Amino acid sequence: MPITAPPTEAAPARLSVGSCDLMLPQVEATAGHGGLVVAALREQADLVTYDPGFMNTAATASAITFVDGKRGILRYRGYPIEALAEHATFLEVAYLLIYGELPDAATLADFSEKVNRHTLVPEQFRGFLAAFPRGGHPMSMMASTMNALATFYPEALNPHDPEAIAAATVLILAKMRTITSYIHRSMRDEPLLYPDYARGYVEDLLRMTFGVPYQQWNGNPVTAAAMDKLLILQADHEQNCSTSTVRLVGSAHTNLFSSVAAGINALSGPLHGGANESALAMLERIRSGGDSVAVFMRKVKDKEDGVRLMGFGHRVYKSYDPRAAIIKEHAHAVLDSLDARDELFDIALGLEEIALSDDYFIERRLYPNVDFYSGLIYRAIGYSPAMFTPLFALARMPGWIAQWREMMRDPATRIGRPHQIYTGHILREFVPLAGRGD
Ligand code: ACO
Repeated sequence: MPITAPPTEAAPARLSVGSCDLMLPQVEATAGHGGLVVAALREQADLVTYDPGFMNTAATASAITFVDGKRGILRYRGYPIEALAEHATFLEVAYLLIYGELPDAATLADFSEKVNRHTLVPEQFRGFLAAFPRGGHPMSMMASTMNALATFYPEALNPHDPEAIAAATVLILAKMRTITSYIHRSMRDEPLLYPDYARGYVEDLLRMTFGVPYQQWNGNPVTAAAMDKLLILQADHEQNCSTSTVRLVGSAHTNLFSSVAAGINALSGPLHGGANESALAMLERIRSGGDSVAVFMRKVKDKEDGVRLMGFGHRVYKSYDPRAAIIKEHAHAVLDSLDARDELFDIALGLEEIALSDDYFIERRLYPNVDFYSGLIYRAIGYSPAMFTPLFALARMPGWIAQWREMMRDPATRIGRPHQIYTGHILREFVPLAGRGD
């Protein structure tokens, strides 16, 4: 599958600007919208496109993930997310995203073995985690540990060496799983467990997070299945804020560890991956009697103090986020299996019911996104809200890795360097310090 978008047979778009008559060629997509090549605009008319928030700008061509936000479609490498969530495992999906094809049984066994065998982290990581202040946010810890990993594996840093890239790919998937469980435990002053190579990726993540040293771990299979699905559903989502960050940083030929660390930082924002934590905090506030559901929704619609219904709305999905639909189903299954009634889940269902029949949300095409229900499952499994976004980041590792690798291989890649429309002073005369003031 080519990466660079091919030119189309379609007639170029004609654009007249002042005395310039430009012909802008089109490039073709295999699905979804194609694009206009705007290079001539600057070369011939000395103009750039102005598109805050990249509302209408494709920064790259990509053959990894397809999203059709109007029809609620999400596909990894052409496979519907529903089929992958139902039939595949997280490492199978990671392989698909990174290498482009579903692995056969032997290839998957080999890949899983390679990842599992690297899950042990250098002992120094215990010290790093112990050194963070109590109450520090785990996303900052995660980004720091990702940068720290780069210092331990200099042989995996060269972004032009296929062997180094192959090593970095496995190291990141393996080490971050262990580090995610260590972050959870170190925040609670709990002993850090060593990995058990014989267990599956998700099963051992849960054991390392919630197990007790020297006691047999018998996890709940429904919980493990839900966790596996959550990781699959969040594994990639084309050119979102954090993925674009990974690509932009990587376009300077920055190594994979440092590029992914930048992605972790981007994901931490409350308008992006941090929304799962914010959504749960919002539900908690409603439960603790701050506001009734109706009063809260009125505040959202009045845009009071910037109040938003967290976990709702999406730049691309203008219909139900297919990931939210699957997660909602699993939230029911997990709560049933744990025999746990969760008042917050009831509040979330109530908020969704109101929103889906309310003109404010209908007109703006706002639906639950991936973050609306995911926190409820993480909470039922035993995670504190601060861990929700790190789990999202762990899930997103294969996507970031796949996108970085694709960016490095694409002959069209150049260092990312947007333009600006300058609106400051044109020219001022410098006044020495002694002459400033009155
Ligand atoms: N609650 C209330 N109103 C909302 C919400 C919301 N969650 N989201 C959007 N709106 C309103 C905006 O106020 C705006 O109204 P207006 O037209 O009257 O000004 C309109 O809908 C369009 O919203 P924008 O912010 O312009 O949409 P944009 O595409 O820039 O933002 C975003 C998308 C950031 C996801 C937004 O919907 C949001 O803030 N949602 C809440 C946070 C969230 O859940 N983020 C997670 C997204 S998924 C992810 O990143 C993994």
